[in-house]
Amino acid sequence: MRAIVHERFGAPDVLSLREVEQPVPGRGDVLIKVHATTVTAAEILMRRGRPLWGRVILGPIRPRRRLRIPGLELAGEIVAVGADVARFVPGDQVFGFTGFGVGACAEYKCMPESASLELKPANTSYRQAAAAVDGATTALYFLRDIARVRAGQHVLINGASGSIGTYAVQLAKYFGAEVTAVCSARNTELVTSLGADHAIDYTAEDFTTRRNAYDVIFDAVTASSFRRCRGALTPRGCYVPTTRLRNWPIAGWTALRGGRRVRPGMSIDKRAALASIKELIEGEQLRIVIDRDYRLDQIVEAHRYVETGRKRGNVTISVTAET
Ligand SMILES: NC(=O)c1ccc[n+]([C@@H]2O[C@H](COP(=O)([O-])OP(=O)(O)OC[C@H]3O[C@@H](n4cnc5c(N)ncnc54)[C@H](OP(=O)(O)O)[C@@H]3O)[C@@H](O)[C@H]2O)c1
Repeated sequence: MRAIVHERFGAPDVLSLREVEQPVPGRGDVLIKVHATTVTAAEILMRRGRPLWGRVILGPIRPRRRLRIPGLELAGEIVAVGADVARFVPGDQVFGFTGFGVGACAEYKCMPESASLELKPANTSYRQAAAAVDGATTALYFLRDIARVRAGQHVLINGASGSIGTYAVQLAKYFGAEVTAVCSARNTELVTSLGADHAIDYTAEDFTTRRNAYDVIFDAVTASSFRRCRGALTPRGCYVPTTRLRNWPIAGWTALRGGRRVRPGMSIDKRAALASIKELIEGEQLRIVIDRDYRLDQIVEAHRYVETGRKRGNVTISVTAET
């Protein structure tokens, strides 16, 4: 089968299209013919082998053999199932998250049936479904499970025009919050069309200088810090970052003082969240924003674009012509 492979950490051109052996499903596995995948911000870091502590998982010097095909999100059709599989049958159209297994940048991918895999929303193309996995489930996890956003709260989303951000704006509105979206001026129209009540252009105004304004500050791109955001939070408000190891000790400290003012997290098991996202998409409560689409053989270009940090919503990769 055709797949994207990288044997070194580094710039986008470490990625190349190769012929590799097609995976064979084990007893509890399904074999998926991948129609579409994506390039996410997280994969840029994984390709570069950054942050360095991440190499405990990725491989100390070069990518571990089983992690050499990138690709975290996929949508495709199940073409074979192992003997013990009960959840899926051949012909099922699915979308899912490969997580630390990666490997979605290929014509076929094997996953355990118990993995973060769900039937694809009926009203989406494969491309749209692939773009509704990591960003959507991460936004749901942080807003619903970590911040516990409630109706009437004021929620600020920083990085509102990215993958997590575009879903976060819509989900916070869905939960009944008043939403302020922080993005650059070129994306104001986009975030407003997704339901944001207010937009702040971060190149013209620093939202952290506002006082006592937000019950939740969800920083999807972790471009701020709790120290800077503290004054903009209401007295019991919480700061929710998606990345940066340094937020964990601060989270522990604020929890010890009885506040849980800083709430980092890691959304890994996405199976239940995918079912909720499927329902929201089928109910037309969530719009999927796709910025650009590339073919599998254009992966280097796709990584170069995502690496700019300027994508709007999601960047997809069409693996077949049926996307
Ligand atoms: N903890 C978890 O479980 C988890 C899960 C998934 C991802 N993540 C992490 O979450 C982060 C965000 O992912 P993503 O996919 O949403 O990113 P993304 O789509 O690549 O974000 C790009 C967007 O961020 C905006 N942006 C860039 N700098 C900004 C700033 N200083 N202030 C406000 N907006 C800014 C850009 O808009 P402009 O062009 O207007 O600047 C662009 O639209 C990544 O670091 C990823 O690794 C964490």
